[in-house]
Amino acid sequence: MRSLADQTVEELGGRWSILTLQKRDHVKLDELLEQLPATSGEEQEELLNRICRLVFSHAFAEEAVLWPALRRTIEDGEELTARVEQEHQEITELVAALERSSPGDPDRPELIDRTVTMLRQDVRDEEDELLPRLQDAVDMKALRRLGMSWAVVRRTAPTRTHPIVSRRPPGQTLSALPLSLTDRTRDGLDYASRRVPAPVGKGLTAASQGLGALARRIEQLPPLRVGERPETHIPSQSRP
Ligand SMILES: [Fe+2]
Ligand SMILES: [Fe+2]
Repeated sequence: MRSLADQTVEELGGRWSILTLQKRDHVKLDELLEQLPATSGEEQEELLNRICRLVFSHAFAEEAVLWPALRRTIEDGEELTARVEQEHQEITELVAALERSSPGDPDRPELIDRTVTMLRQDVRDEEDELLPRLQDAVDMKALRRLGMSWAVVRRTAPTRTHPIVSRRPPGQTLSALPLSLTDRTRDGLDYASRRVPAPVGKGLTAASQGLGALARRIEQLPPLRVGERPETHIPSQSRP
C-alpha cells in the first residue's frame, strides 16, 4: 500500500480519479497553511476564511460520497470512516471556537495551532491509509466515477461549520441544500463587505450574521440529525 503522496497522476487513475482530486485539494490546503504563520490581522482573517471554505466543502463531499463508498467496499470501513468523521468533527468544533473568538484573544494562537495540526493529521490519515485502501479495493473506472460524484457535491456543498448536523446520510444529505444556500450567500456578502465603503460594509455584515443565525436554527431541525453516530454527537448542553 503506497501513500497517495508518492504516486503520479497516472498511478492515481488519471485527472478525474477521486485520488487525484483529493490530492490536489490537499496540496492546495498545505500551501495555504504554509502561508499562515507569516500573516496577522485582516490578512490572516482572509486566509483563514479561504482555508475554511476549502476544507468544509471538501469534507462535506467526503462524508456524502466517499466514506459511504468505503463502508460498502472495505471490511473494516465502518471503523476507519468513524475515525476520520471524528477528526472532521474535532476540526469543525475548533473552527467554530475560532469563529467565536476575536483577533486579539489570548487563546486564539493555540486554537489556530490545534486546527492546523488536526488538518494535517486528517490529510495524512486519508493519503496514507484510507484512500490507498480504497485504491486496492476498486478499479480505475470506479475511482473516476467516485471522483465525478465527489466533485459535483463539493461544488454545491455547505462551506461553513455546522457542528450539530449528522456527519452521515440521510441527515447530512438533507442539510446540503438549505445550509449550502445560507453559507454561500454569506460568503458572497462577507467578500463584498470587505470591498465596499464602511457603512455599506456594515449592512452587508449584519445581513450575513442574520443568515448565520438562520443557519443555526436550520441545524436544530431533527431530520438533519438522522444517521448521526455517537462518536460525533454533541450533547445539547455543550452545543456551540
Ligand atoms: Fe480529503
Ligand atoms: Fe477529510
